[in-house]
Amino acid sequence: MIALASDHTALELKEAIKGLLQEMGLEYKDFGTYTAESCDYPVFGARAARAVARGECDRGIIICGTGVGISLAANKIPGIRCVVCSEPYSAKLSRMHNDSNMLAFGARVIGTEMAKMIARIWLETPFEGGRHQRRVDMLSALERGEEIE
Ligand code: RB5
Repeated sequence: MIALASDHTALELKEAIKGLLQEMGLEYKDFGTYTAESCDYPVFGARAARAVARGECDRGIIICGTGVGISLAANKIPGIRCVVCSEPYSAKLSRMHNDSNMLAFGARVIGTEMAKMIARIWLETPFEGGRHQRRVDMLSALERGEEIE
């Protein structure tokens, strides 16, 4: 189950991502917003991020104008590693090395086809584990306020 969320700037791109998920045979849950009325991106980023952190959704894709605000919101939720990407290399490596569990887009930054390509690659790429697990564990330790050196 993929968590989706956006603010009012990104309704169209969110629909395009739904189309991709359908093509890929993946289920999704849309945590809003559902209308073009101006809204606050932290509300929707947090809703999707909480669903991922609780394990109700496996991963999430969230969208605002730049991808910045909504990813910042998601990353405030413990257990979330959200990356803003506008090219596929970072998206792929964020899965392989950082075990990113949420992907953010800027609807005012990126074209629909590029976003779909990035999302597909991000969804298909597994975490490599190994030495990267140790580093991801360090991120979790930082989140708990622990020293890591
Ligand atoms: C809304 O105007 C805009 O600030 C928001 O979509 C996002 O880009 C914030 O980071």
